[in-house]
Amino acid sequence: MKLAILPGDGIGPEIVRQAEKVLKALAAGGLAVEMQQAPIGGAGHDAAGDPLPDATLALARDADAVLLGAVGGPRYDTLPRELRPEQGLLRIRKALNLFTNLRPAIVHPELASASSLKPELVAGLDVMILRELTGDIYFGTPRGRRALDDGQREGFDTMKYSESEIRRIAHVGFRIAMGRRRQLCSVDKANVLDTSILWREVVTEVGREYPDVALTHMYVDNAAMQLVRAPKQFDVMLTGNIFGDILSDEASMLTGSIGMLPSASLDAHGKGLYEPIHGSAPDIAGRDVANPLATILSVAMLLRYSGRDEAAAQRVEAAVTQVLRDGLRTADIATPGEPTVGTEQMGDAVVAALARAYR
Ligand code: IPM
Ligand code: MG
Repeated sequence: MKLAILPGDGIGPEIVRQAEKVLKALAAGGLAVEMQQAPIGGAGHDAAGDPLPDATLALARDADAVLLGAVGGPRYDTLPRELRPEQGLLRIRKALNLFTNLRPAIVHPELASASSLKPELVAGLDVMILRELTGDIYFGTPRGRRALDDGQREGFDTMKYSESEIRRIAHVGFRIAMGRRRQLCSVDKANVLDTSILWREVVTEVGREYPDVALTHMYVDNAAMQLVRAPKQFDVMLTGNIFGDILSDEASMLTGSIGMLPSASLDAHGKGLYEPIHGSAPDIAGRDVANPLATILSVAMLLRYSGRDEAAAQRVEAAVTQVLRDGLRTADIATPGEPTVGTEQMGDAVVAALARAYR
């Protein structure tokens, strides 16, 4: 497998370094991987004046999978929109046609007390948020700014989804639900938005091909409320781009640490970009305190979806579970007073747990 490694900004480089250690340990155990690095986001801007330099995109196109750290930082906040680090991320998603975004929110039993909700509400939580990633108001045109007749400025964006865009993500949703608890909750705002009325219609049509999956529909405001009221009612949540952006941040917090959650963004053929769902955390960058586990768990997703190596994916996940059982905690997942380990130590512990499993 050829991997493009894009560390990005902030804590990106240090957490990606831990994931690379894990990949090297797997390689020593027989996994065939080749890794090459390139800058993206603010690092891309620094290196080549572009948040997604041509060479980075070429490397990513040529790779079987991409592992990304995080992008963004205060140094880049004042750049014009097209030069901002986030544009690197949005452009690579679009260029590689990564329309499927998988954001699992899983509560590790060892960390149930770290949630801001009562432990009994979240213990055992396992929700898969499936977010459409290349359409919607993120990419719809026309968009921009204009002057109104009375001279004031107006900003505008366009929410839209074509039938084929809805259909292909809906199929992914039903297939994922088939491999889980067979419940698919489609999220929309069909009481207000035309885009959502079509979304609901098309998802319902696709659902006729999957009689074994229980399909429900929920308005996005209610879904936001239900996620904190009774999150365990959900199996797979299917959303458009903007609703999924918001709900996945909410779901991540139910698990106690955004520092634990991986994600996968896939095209139609299993090529994917894998990244932790947390951001670049510039405030703690370079201090060896960031939690590398979300990035390491992103490696597990990479092995599962792009490598089609379920055994290797599970070995990585088991190693992460093992270090949590052993009581290792970075600051973000420690309860007050608990001793903590740094980024490097956590990475080394996962590598050691992997090595033990190989013996
Ligand atoms: C995410 C992020 C991005 C998004 C930003 C950084 C462009 O919030 O991956 O959820 O809005 O998709
Ligand atoms: Mg987001």
